[in-house]
Amino acid sequence: MLSQLPQIHHPELLSQEIPFADAAIYRLNASEALVQSVDFFTPVVDDPYKYGQIAAANALSDIFAVGARPLMALNLVSFPINCLATDILLQILQGGAERVHAAGAVIGGGHSIEDDEPKYGLSVTGIVDPQEMITTCGCCPGDQLYLTKPLGTGLLTTALKGEVVSEADIAETIEGMILLNQAAAEVMLEVGASACTDITGFGLVGHASEMADASRVGMKIFVRQLPVYPQAFEMAEMGLVPIGSHRNRDFYFSRLDGQESCDPTQLDLLSDPQTSGGLLISVAAQKSEHFEQRLKERGVLVARVGEVTSGPAGRILLAP
Ligand code: CO
Repeated sequence: MLSQLPQIHHPELLSQEIPFADAAIYRLNASEALVQSVDFFTPVVDDPYKYGQIAAANALSDIFAVGARPLMALNLVSFPINCLATDILLQILQGGAERVHAAGAVIGGGHSIEDDEPKYGLSVTGIVDPQEMITTCGCCPGDQLYLTKPLGTGLLTTALKGEVVSEADIAETIEGMILLNQAAAEVMLEVGASACTDITGFGLVGHASEMADASRVGMKIFVRQLPVYPQAFEMAEMGLVPIGSHRNRDFYFSRLDGQESCDPTQLDLLSDPQTSGGLLISVAAQKSEHFEQRLKERGVLVARVGEVTSGPAGRILLAP
């Protein structure tokens, strides 16, 4: 759809040259580029403070995915002011502010409108050195692929909405969604990763195949080594698969080889849309030991989930 809009080419808009870029990147001078992202959604949990935290961690994630430092964020709020207590909105905003401050950034303001259903998110501005930024384009054959958070938030938040599980049951998943991708991003910059993207609505299958496409490489994913939040497989077995998962299948599964060797629940996990998911980081094999050690030291999940192959470009081979 976006291709039907007039194409405006601007020499400083660096993200225009990056297929599936996580954020807009605008060069200010030789060593600085502005990075901007925006995201908002309806509540994924009942606790308003945690919802605010998750929405903010999710909005900040695109900034971290390109190796940028967040500077400032603006709140975006839709809220049924006549139906819900304003204290709920206050808690949402407090949760968002807590994560923005934890990321070393500041809330500069925002905008709210009245709406039937609450929605919250942020527009985040960051800064990066264009020579140091990490994009979807740099994967090289032989690179190792790491995922920095488990999968399954779509399945588990769907189960929560259906009252199959409680917030207490999925506490680990909620903490995972609240967790910033900051430490993982700092390690990837320090070690010098080749490429990165964050896993959100298109699931691992969508974001991995887009990164493979952008880098003109193939990927092998070790399906049995995928990190998974507790109970996510059980929810898949019960058929509590979110609508977004079906959309991801329809759109991306034609790029997968080796599906017949997988359990149906593993395929559900690959297509599961993530809220505030982890970073998918591509690292040269000779750097991978150091990278794993630094992730461990920073308390980040170490999950080697695949490797980059020479092709075919954009295709993913599912391997045991
Ligand atoms: Co992204």
